[in-house]
Amino acid sequence: MKKIILCAYIALVAVVACTPKASPTSTDAVIPEAASVSSDQASIDAGHIIFTTKCTKCHGAKDKAVASKSYEALRPILASMSKKAKLSKEEVQQVSAYVYANAKK
Ligand code: HEC
Repeated sequence: MKKIILCAYIALVAVVACTPKASPTSTDAVIPEAASVSSDQASIDAGHIIFTTKCTKCHGAKDKAVASKSYEALRPILASMSKKAKLSKEEVQQVSAYVYANAKK
């Protein structure tokens, strides 16, 4: 009887240990599609602050790179940069709003 309980316990531990955890951080946040980017001025302003603070740790503010590319072209870049800058989901939404407002149309 003890063996059965022990086996059941081991099986349970294995299942719990192997279950993927819900992502605790938002470093894998998805860059919103053009159609769903926030266009309200408060988000754009907040995004500008993030862009000039958190995004300049490794390089200058990439204003020129943003202005010379379409939002669609910038999305994959933003996705990897948001991870590098460890932005929260909300910050990702805001920086996306700023980038969208300033990207090449
Ligand atoms: C951990 C360092 C790091 C952080 C933080 C970071 N970047 Fe970058 N970024 C790089 C590197 C490295 C490159 C490539 C070399 C370069 O252009 O300086 C780059 C390049 C870029 C480019 C140019 C890409 C191209 O193809 O022209 C853009 C635009 C950009 N980053 C935007 C951002 C934005 C927006 C953020 C904030 C969300 C950010 N970066 C945060 C490291 C970083």
